[in-house]
Amino acid sequence: MTIAPFTSLICPLDHEPLSRTSTSWCCPQGHTFDVSRQGHVNLLPVQKKRSLDPGDSKAMITARRRFLEAGHYQGIAEAVSRQVLSHGSAHQALAVLDAGCGEGYYLRELAGIESARRLSLLGLDISKWAVQAAAGRDRRMGWVVGSNAALPVPDQSLDVVLCMFGFPTPAEFARVLKPGGLLLEVEAGPDHLIELREIIYPTLKAPREPRQAPEPGFKTDTVETVRYARTLNSREQILDLLVMTPHLYRATAEGRAKAEALAHLDVTVEVQLTGSLRL
Ligand SMILES: C[S@@+](CC[C@H](N)C(=O)[O-])C[C@H]1O[C@@H](n2cnc3c(N)ncnc32)[C@H](O)[C@@H]1O
Ligand SMILES: [Zn+2]
Repeated sequence: MTIAPFTSLICPLDHEPLSRTSTSWCCPQGHTFDVSRQGHVNLLPVQKKRSLDPGDSKAMITARRRFLEAGHYQGIAEAVSRQVLSHGSAHQALAVLDAGCGEGYYLRELAGIESARRLSLLGLDISKWAVQAAAGRDRRMGWVVGSNAALPVPDQSLDVVLCMFGFPTPAEFARVLKPGGLLLEVEAGPDHLIELREIIYPTLKAPREPRQAPEPGFKTDTVETVRYARTLNSREQILDLLVMTPHLYRATAEGRAKAEALAHLDVTVEVQLTGSLRL
């Protein structure tokens, strides 16, 4: 695989193209965004931030990184990489954005696949902690702090947008995808981590109804369920899973204490991958 960072960025203030200097990204109007020591750039204007420290916290990012590196979601990563790499023809280069990339696990896994394809990759997240962690880990991709609500990339510039356990903004995804481009969304299935949820909640919510119709501007192309079992065999791994998901905050105190006391837990991983093509 030939991997390069995706570099067609636009200014978040006036949408003019950004060009890279040795230390920053600049637009023709003179807006300048410094490149960090780790190599990422913050393109989330202060006036568009809804909170001082938006997105996942440092603790959530650290827990997620440990959990993912233990391989528990490798089956998801493999299915995602397979779908990305089967998009378009084998000799076509692909520009791929992971919108809400967290600490970058899925782009790293994609970049690690043996293939003759040429990929330009961009990971974006609203959490500076996530992007910092991702950039510090792998410089083959571009990494940006930004929001899915206003992606700092030009219209029709991407072949694939990934949105994994994230915040879908379909109109914005439709803007940045080329016609025929692939939006790949990954969401928890009804039985995802059910064993943990049974411990921490007094009653389980009814599973969400599967989506009936594609988003405007898209047609549904593929729906794939990935389902397998994993064993978490230490208290640390169970705690990491609790901290990296919203479950920790939603659980009852009693449920949380029960989960925190476990040293072993068999869990079901079940996710749905929905691939939609931009019309
Ligand atoms: C549940 S995590 C999933 C992270 C990653 N996709 C993964 O599966 O490992 C959701 C991510 O979305 C980010 N996020 C929240 N709001 C966002 C927004 N408006 N734009 C981009 N990212 C956002 C959070 O900071 C967090 O990293
Ligand atoms: Zn500008």
